[in-house]
Amino acid sequence: MSFNQQHIVITGASSGIGRALVMELANYHCHVLAIDKDAIGLRQLSLDMETSRIQLQMLELDLANLLQIQQLVPLALEKLGRIDLFFANAGFALYGSFGSQDFSARQAQLQVNLVAPLEGLYQMLQIAQGRPFSYIITASAMAKTGMPNYAMYAATKAALDRFADCFRFEHHPGCHLMLVYPIATRTDFFKSHESIPLPWPSQSPQKVAQSILKAVFKKKKAVYPSFLFQCMISLQLINQWLMYPYQLWNKPKQD
Ligand SMILES: NC(=O)c1ccc[n+]([C@@H]2O[C@H](COP(=O)([O-])OP(=O)(O)OC[C@H]3O[C@@H](n4cnc5c(N)ncnc54)[C@H](OP(=O)(O)O)[C@@H]3O)[C@@H](O)[C@H]2O)c1
Repeated sequence: MSFNQQHIVITGASSGIGRALVMELANYHCHVLAIDKDAIGLRQLSLDMETSRIQLQMLELDLANLLQIQQLVPLALEKLGRIDLFFANAGFALYGSFGSQDFSARQAQLQVNLVAPLEGLYQMLQIAQGRPFSYIITASAMAKTGMPNYAMYAATKAALDRFADCFRFEHHPGCHLMLVYPIATRTDFFKSHESIPLPWPSQSPQKVAQSILKAVFKKKKAVYPSFLFQCMISLQLINQWLMYPYQLWNKPKQD
């Protein structure tokens, strides 16, 4: 498996799963653009990667801001010249009941978790014009099953899941879309709220990053870094598979 000479964008790169992806890619001679809103985290990442093989560039963007979302791919392209792999990974959850979250909190989760990954994909399709690229979105196990106090967050991740389900029936030559469904991962994700419990079971961001890179290479459509979780939702996955002929039957003939 090789990512040598690939031009790669990673959002949410200064922490957790995004940072672990950069660390794994440090084994290759590739060009990586690390995007995050956390300038200090990006600087630290740059220092940590000084002796690695990757050519690392940084871009500070706030993906809760619609104007900055619109600049996502154009700015990345300006930095990298071309984009082979795009990891739309940035995301966050505000823990608590739906009623406890104000308008700006609800909007921010929608923009970062849902709008930014979908707009990024749209922008990639515009610039790629049929040239092959992989677009990987970090969804969540919560795209498949809900958890108490995560209603708003789970809604954004479940929407990504359904989007991918429909998108795959469209004709987009060269575009490989893959969704990642991690279970609880030991990252800063759980530091946003002091009473936020880390659900069982949990996994390391390294494990998630390694599963993602293996799956990218195999051009998979979905990756479940926890085999246990995949077993837990196996009936749901079988049901999805049973619906496939019905979906195919509804696919417009001209596509
Ligand atoms: N950890 C889990 O249990 C888990 C499980 C399933 C899915 N996920 C998903 O995995 C992805 C990565 O999360 P993680 O666990 O690695 O959490 P993390 O350690 O908190 O990393 C998320 C990164 O995204 C950045 N980010 C947040 N809001 C942003 C914004 N408005 N603009 C640009 N960057 C922003 C964060 O920057 P700041 O540090 O400045 O906030 C942080 O660097 C997310 O999409 C998350 O939903 C996580």
